[in-house]
Amino acid sequence: MIRYLSFPVIFVTQFAAHASAQEPPDEALGKEAYQANCMACHQADLRLVGPSLVAIAETYPLEKEAEFIQWAKAPGKKDPKLLQMPPMSHLPDETLAAIHKFMLGEAKGKTEQKAGSQYDTYKEPVRELPYVVRAFLPDASPASVAVVLKDGISLCWDTEACRFRYAWAGDKTRLRQGHTVVNLRQKPFYRESAPALWSFAGDDEPQFHGYRLHEDGTPEFAYSFGDIEIRERISNGAEAGSFVRHFTLSKPLEKLSLNLEQDSSARVSADKGELNNHTLTLTAGDTKSFTLTISKP
Ligand code: HEC
Repeated sequence: MIRYLSFPVIFVTQFAAHASAQEPPDEALGKEAYQANCMACHQADLRLVGPSLVAIAETYPLEKEAEFIQWAKAPGKKDPKLLQMPPMSHLPDETLAAIHKFMLGEAKGKTEQKAGSQYDTYKEPVRELPYVVRAFLPDASPASVAVVLKDGISLCWDTEACRFRYAWAGDKTRLRQGHTVVNLRQKPFYRESAPALWSFAGDDEPQFHGYRLHEDGTPEFAYSFGDIEIRERISNGAEAGSFVRHFTLSKPLEKLSLNLEQDSSARVSADKGELNNHTLTLTAGDTKSFTLTISKP
């Protein structure tokens, strides 16, 4: 089974450059994961939304890695003047450990600067598209992430339920009082409404393994039902106003169906199998890897 600890660069070294046993470069992993998940609130030497890395390094030196991970997954409430930090339970321990190391490195030799006011010097970092950000999204569990693609398309992927939730057009994510929030001003143009996507889901609880970013910034989520591991990569489609979900299963199945009921009217097409009445049916050779293309109506 593939271990999903990883972020961008690593994907490239592991797969594209066919290096099989190369160790993930922790430093790059830590930096990317910090930028994607923590930088919005934690700066090296400034206490803005959350404490500075200088302060964090004092509380959590290298030997306090376990405590650091513990906090990040289930943050407490310490400073009454600061907001509640959102849990980072969607990140695997190894990624949090890499972030910890990166934070310690960034804090080294720095002292905390005094910010005039807690909020008004703060600007949301300018991000290149696509990006993935931990966000508070309507109609999804608190452990959801927003995927912001090019071409004005954004998606909600729920890492607790291990499923894609919906896609919307127009609005980007916004930072409000330290929380990345999404206000959907328009109805999502695609929203899955079936109780379960996969025919093999049954009563099994899905297990989330993490996500990584490809070199072009597109995310790939990994999760499993029982002994079937699924990887789902999401990217812009070739046509404007569309996106593609690339699925890879860890093993071929005799037969497989996906329930693609939606309470919206997006166009859905598949590169394999039969799509009838919102059900995609795949047989033997086609079940290991296939794509769905979803387009704005
Ligand atoms: C939305 C803003 C936000 C994000 C994103 C965020 N934090 Fe925090 N973090 C906070 C706030 C606010 C506090 C202070 C909470 C308090 O003291 O009650 C905090 C505190 C901390 C602390 C100090 C805990 C202590 O015991 O003093 C650590 C460590 C930390 N965050 C790690 C992380 C890591 C790692 C990430 C990214 C994976 C992250 N944070 C992302 C807002 C955030």
